[in-house]
Amino acid sequence: TDTKLIAILPGDGIGPEVTAEARRVLEALALPLAFEEAPVGGAAYRASGHPLPAETLDLARRADAILFGAVGDPAFDGLERALRPEQAILGLRKHLTTFANLRPARIFAGLEDASTLKPEVARAIDLVIVRELNGDVYFGDKGRRTTDAGLREGHDLMRYDEAEVRRIAHIGFQTAAKRRGKLCSVDKANVLETSQLWRDVVIEVAAEYPQVELTHMYVDNAAMQLVRNPGAFDTIVTGNLFGDILSDQASMCVGSIGMLPSASLDADAKGLYEPIHGSAPDIAGQGKANPCAAILSAAMLLRHSLALPEPADRIEAAVAAALATGVRTPDLGGTASTRTMGDAVLAAL
Ligand code: NAD
Ligand code: IPM
Ligand code: MN
Repeated sequence: TDTKLIAILPGDGIGPEVTAEARRVLEALALPLAFEEAPVGGAAYRASGHPLPAETLDLARRADAILFGAVGDPAFDGLERALRPEQAILGLRKHLTTFANLRPARIFAGLEDASTLKPEVARAIDLVIVRELNGDVYFGDKGRRTTDAGLREGHDLMRYDEAEVRRIAHIGFQTAAKRRGKLCSVDKANVLETSQLWRDVVIEVAAEYPQVELTHMYVDNAAMQLVRNPGAFDTIVTGNLFGDILSDQASMCVGSIGMLPSASLDADAKGLYEPIHGSAPDIAGQGKANPCAAILSAAMLLRHSLALPEPADRIEAAVAAALATGVRTPDLGGTASTRTMGDAVLAAL
C-alpha cells in the first residue's frame, strides 16, 4: 500500500492545541495518510520519566514524516538537562540527522498591520532562513564546575567541522537557486573561528552554484537589516544558534511567531515539521494559540516529504483565504480561538 504514516508528536503547552488543527486540515484532504500519536517532552516525562521515550523515537523512525507541536514546561526547568522537555526535540533532530531546517517567512496579505514594521516594509518580506540544526554550540561539550577560586563556571563548546558546514551550504545554495537566486550567509567571522571556517567552506561550495549570488553578513548587522529592509533578503543560510534567533525575529516582521512553519530535513528529505514557536505556557490551555504555523508546517510536510505539492499549495492558499476573511487569533489582533481559526482554514479548503 502507499498509505503514508504520519507521526503526531503534540508535546506540551499549546503544542497539542495547534497540532490538532494541523491534523484536522491534513485529514480533510482525504489523502492516503495514517496517523499515529505519541507523547514527547514534558508530557512524556510525566507519563514515563523520559522526555523522548524509546517508543516515541521508534515511531518517529518508522513514520514517513513527523508533525511535531512544541515541548517545554516551566514545571521541569529545574530538572537536570538530560531530562528536560527540550531534550526531546534536540534528541529527535540529532537521532534523525535532520540537519537542514527551512524556516520560510513571508507576509500574508492583510497582516501588514499585525507586523510591528511599517506596512510598506513588511509587505516586501519573502525570505527563507536555512538553519543548520545538528551542530554548533547546541551540541558541543557542555559543563559546569567550580574553579579553584570557588567561582561557579559554565561552558558550552561552539564547534563545526567542514563536512557539517558543506552539507548545509549545499542546501542553502539549492534553496536560493529555486527562489530568487540570492544567498546571504550569516556568521560572526570577525570574532569566531567556527564562523571563519563556515565562511571559507561556503565560499568553496559557491563554485558549484554560479547561478546563485552569494553575500556574507555578520549576524549583528543581519539582525539590524532584518528590520531595516527585510525585503532585500531572499535566502539566508546560517548556523544553529544564529538561525534560532533570527527566525523568531523574522516571524514578528511578518505579523506573529504564530505564523512561521518549519521543515527539518535529513539527506533523503525525511523530515520533522513544526512551528518555530514553543509551548507558550503563558497562553496554554486557553484556546488562544494561532494554529497557522502548525497548519503551514503540515503543508511543508506534504511538499517536502511526501512529494505532494498540490495539496500543500491548497493548504497555503486556504490559510491565506481564511486570513483574508478577517478571522484572526489574538496574536494577530483578532479574537478568534485556535479552533475557530482552524475552522476558517477548513472552510476555505
Ligand atoms: P514561545 O515561542 O513558546 O512563546 C513566546 C511568546 O510568543 C509567548 O508570549 C507566547 O504566548 C507567544 N506565542 C508563541 N506561539 C504562539 C502562537 N502559536 N500563537 C500565539 N502566540 C504565540 O517561547 P518561550 O516563551 O521562550 O518558551 C516557552 C517554552 O517553549 C520553553 O520551555 C522553551 O524551551 C520552549 N520552546 C520549544 C520549542 C520547540 O518545541 N521547538 C521552540 C521554542 C521554545
Ligand atoms: C526552536 C527552539 C529550540 C531551539 C529549543 C526548544 C531547543 O527554540 O525550535 O526554535 O533552540 O532550537
Ligand atoms: Mn527557537
